Amino acid sequence: MHDFLNRLPKAELHLHLEGSLEPELMFELAQRNGIQLPYVSVEEVRAAYQFGNLQDFLDIYYQGAEVLQTEQDFYDLTWAYLQRCSEQNVIHTEPFFDPQTHTDRGIAFETVINGIDRALRDGRQQLGISSRLILCFLRHLDESAAFETLQQAMPHRDKFIAVGLDSSERGNPPEKFARVFAAARDAGLLTVAHAGEEGPAAYIRDALDLLQVSRVDHGVRAVEDEALMQRLIDSGMALTVCPLSNTKLQVFSDMRQHNILQMLARGVKVTVNSDDPAYFGGYMTENFVALYEALGLSKTQAVQLSRNAFEVAFVSEPEKQALLARLDRFAADEGVG
Ligand code: HPA
Ligand code: ZN
Repeated sequence: MHDFLNRLPKAELHLHLEGSLEPELMFELAQRNGIQLPYVSVEEVRAAYQFGNLQDFLDIYYQGAEVLQTEQDFYDLTWAYLQRCSEQNVIHTEPFFDPQTHTDRGIAFETVINGIDRALRDGRQQLGISSRLILCFLRHLDESAAFETLQQAMPHRDKFIAVGLDSSERGNPPEKFARVFAAARDAGLLTVAHAGEEGPAAYIRDALDLLQVSRVDHGVRAVEDEALMQRLIDSGMALTVCPLSNTKLQVFSDMRQHNILQMLARGVKVTVNSDDPAYFGGYMTENFVALYEALGLSKTQAVQLSRNAFEVAFVSEPEKQALLARLDRFAADEGVG
């Protein structure tokens, strides 16, 4: 099953590039940039990755990102992630980046996006991985900071397809960013938002109504509101679910408690994603394997989860059909109906 899940053609729709920074690369970049890390070894870094909640994680995640300084650093980070994609048959990816984490430290916006964009282009040419980039606003910062970031991003409009919303969810509701999301939509950008990870189901509803998102990131707390569940099912709204993230951040106490397969059975368009793989113990294949081990994920369910992701990807219709055809061919070869 592990081999099947690794070979399964996959799309990743919820991945923070800064969350793919492995401790080995963190040390390499710290050395390259003359930065002193508060850890002596890779083992010590990994041992520090014990989180009681989202904020515990975010504090360590923002600290780790400080080693990223030059365009080459952002290239190397993105390239390392794409190599993992290649090894795991992730044939399409739509990663997030958090520009404010870097611009607030004095790194130029273009340094960040140019490094990422160059790696994504090389990924298309050298690895055959298609991609679209998503710019996330940090929701613990205020609306004016988000507007400033959107303004800095506009000269690079061709390098990203959508805006998103991440960081500390509780106390930072979607309505705080309704106007900046409206401005982004006016500029022709698509929108997504983290909602219903730690925050209540009402934030999912607000992400739909006030931010007009095309997908909800996480969204697992939708099950607490039956009317919302019915709305998600009827509208075909996608949720980008992150199983290992949810257990590492105690959204679910144990993978056996995870609700992704119940939602799939009810007809919610759920997808599997890795969120911050360097911090949560695995990339795409490991997330699928965790569902197999804890919940008995079947091959048919795995193919359906993968199909959902291709169906809601931010690509043109011909590109989508080509991606789906690769999945269909795989499923047919494997005898999965
Ligand atoms: N939630 C909110 N913010 C984040 C996450 C997440 O899962 N990962 C990186 N930033
Ligand atoms: Zn996330």
